[in-house]
Parts: sequence; C-alpha cells; structure tokens
Amino acid sequence: MTAADRTLDRPAGLEPPDVLVNPGALARLPDVSVPREPLAVHRRLAGYAPTPLISCPGLARQLGVGEVWVKDESWRLGLPSFKILGAAYACYRALTSRLGREPRWDSVAELSAALRPLGPVTLCAATDGNHGRAVARMARLLGLRADIYVPDGTVQPRIDAMEAEGASVTVVRGGYDDAVRHSAEQAGERRIVVSDTSWPGYTQIPGWVIDGYGTVFAEIGDQLSAAGGAEPDVVAVPVGVGALAAAAIRQFKSGQGTGGPKLLGVEPESARCVTESLRAGHLVTLPFPQTSIMAGLNCGTPSQLAWPTLARGLDVLAAVADSWAMAAMRSLAAAGIVAGETGAAALAGLHAVCADPAGESARSVLGLRPDSRVLVLCTEGATDPAAWARIVGHPVPPPGADIRPA
Ligand SMILES: Cc1ncc(COP(=O)(O)O)c(C=O)c1O
Repeated sequence: MTAADRTLDRPAGLEPPDVLVNPGALARLPDVSVPREPLAVHRRLAGYAPTPLISCPGLARQLGVGEVWVKDESWRLGLPSFKILGAAYACYRALTSRLGREPRWDSVAELSAALRPLGPVTLCAATDGNHGRAVARMARLLGLRADIYVPDGTVQPRIDAMEAEGASVTVVRGGYDDAVRHSAEQAGERRIVVSDTSWPGYTQIPGWVIDGYGTVFAEIGDQLSAAGGAEPDVVAVPVGVGALAAAAIRQFKSGQGTGGPKLLGVEPESARCVTESLRAGHLVTLPFPQTSIMAGLNCGTPSQLAWPTLARGLDVLAAVADSWAMAAMRSLAAAGIVAGETGAAALAGLHAVCADPAGESARSVLGLRPDSRVLVLCTEGATDPAAWARIVGHPVPPPGADIRPA
C-alpha cells in the first residue's frame, strides 16, 4: 500500500489545503548549480556551527512515513532563523564589490576594518521580520547603519528585535510588496538595498541571498552522509518569495538524470503567490492583503529571479490555513523543537498533504509511502514569544532546554 492509497481523515478543525501538482516539474535541472563560496564566508562568522538535523520518529508516525528529519534553523548564528545566511553573504558580496576587491579577513572585525575605505554606508531592506533583523545584525557587526522597512501589522516584538540591533525601522503602509517597493527607492551612492526578493533590473544581490541559503543544504548533505548516506525521498520547504525553495531545488535537483527527491513547497493560503503563478503559467501578484500568522511567507509576488527554478523544480505546492501551522508548532514542540509560525509551515503543509483527503494526488506524485524518508525545513524559532506560548500552551523554553513531554 502506498500513502496515496490510504483513506485518511482530516484532523478536526483544519480546513482542506489547496494542493497543486506542478505539471512543469522536472526530476533534474541541468542548468542550476550550487556555489561553494558562501560556506567559506559563513565559517568565518563568530559562532558559526551547523544547525541540528534531527530524526523525529514521533513525527514520522504521525505522518505515516518511515523517517522524518527536521533541519532545525530555530537558532542560527545567534538569531532565530536561517535568514542570516543569505543576508551575510549578500552583504559581504555587495560591500566587497563596492570596494573593488575581496580583502583578506579571518574575523568580522578584520572585514569591517577592510571595508572602512567605503566610508559611511547604510544597508536598506524590506522585511516581514527575519531578513531585516539579519541585515541589521550584519550592519551592526560591520559598523554600518541599517534602515529597515516593514509592512503594516508587523508585530512589535519583531520590530523591537531589529531596533535592538541598532536599525532604524519604518512601517510602510500596505503589505510586504509595498515595503519592498519602498526599500527599492532607497538605493543611492551611500545606500545599498539588500533584498531577498528581486525585480526587473535588480537581481544580483537577491542571487547572492539564494547562494547564501545554500549553506543550509550543504550542511544537510554532510549530516546525511555522516549518518550513513541515506537520501530523502521528499523535501518540504516553506515558500515566501521562493528564494529558499530555489536554493533547495539547486541542491537536490541540479545535474543530469532522473532520480532524486521530490520537492513540496508550502505557502499560506492567503499568500499563495507561487501556487497562483504556477496555475497561471507566469508571475502573478496577489491582491493585498496577505494576513497569515506565517508572517515570513506573507508575500504577494514571487521573486523574479527564483521563478524559473521554482516553475521547474517544485513538484507540489500546498497552501494551508493558519490552523495547520499552529498544529505543526505543537507537533514540533512535542518533538523538542521550538518553531515559530513560519518555521512550522513546511511541516504544516506536509501534514496536510499526508493527512487530508485533498492531498491524495500530491501523495501519489511525491511517492509518499509508509517507508518514505522525508526532510522538513524548520526555518524559524519563536520570533513572537507571546504568540508561541499562546499557541503551544507553555512559555518559550530557554535555548537548549528539553521540552519533549515526559
Ligand atoms: C522563517 C522563514 N522561513 C521561510 C521564509 C521563506 O523564504 P523565501 O521568502 O525565500 O521563500 C522566510 C522568508 O522571510 C522566513 O522568514
């Protein structure tokens, strides 16, 4: 019996997901490749260490598959999400390009000193929280200013976190797309826009962001090799503008051939811009507003740069209601992992595909079976601690505490 054959009941209180099987998906993309340089940059940042890859037998039982690995990005280089990887590499490349050379450096203090001839520079970014906080952290480490633009409705703890890095935070009327537009207007001789999304004429820096995310997947490759070399059959990745998913596709689908894992992209139902773009066959901008609690995924337009990779590399898209994300936060907490709303999104979509009758075609395309090995990206920790406590039912534990039920 395959997982696709099982008769499943949707967990009580959860709405059916919107599931799209991508007819344009390819097994391999021969024209994409994984750059190695970002890892060498990340290794020189103080506190760099690979994040854990955790085997979760309880989640595997819940989903009816053989193995679930969770890549836990709840704490990365001192911040509660993976986004610092993209921001750090993009800032590094943008600043050294301005300098006109790559200086020798072994520590951020040395890099900061080498960048001094640039004079005062401000890094500008739009964000739902994590990317802006990461850009602000890089600015602080390098002795630069940061101006960060957030959409209406960004919760105060996420704004406070950016201000604590020394950033000046401006609330822009509208959604994430409006914040992006506003940040784009800030570019100038002394102002560098470091965006995780791209638009016509602005692709180089977002390309470096995608390159930076590659470190997540390089680590996973090493961790799976060290654990005996098993490969995942399915990879579940959250999708906002699609830069992270593009990095996942590069890792798992680059090169020739037919084998390799299937990719499941997960979006909030109110921000399913990649799902609707795939349906339309071209980039679509959703009407404002995007209102999911999965705040990092509240994007109305996919990244133009990521789009060709997403259109050929994502096998299935699942758009889920917030209730699935809350259930996934609780499931991850039961597995000992502190995941914020966005961090839990990939598990939410996978759960919806595995457990909901609406996921039947997806289960079949993904080849989900009782012995499948599944990799889930958990991309964020408790970035809104009060919301985490409300949803999970107890306060956010200190880092490193064992929160699994006895
Ligand atoms: C925690 C988290 N996970 C996933 C994503 C999605 O990444 P992308 O916008 O590259 O699709 C984001 C984006 O901000 C995020 O903050």
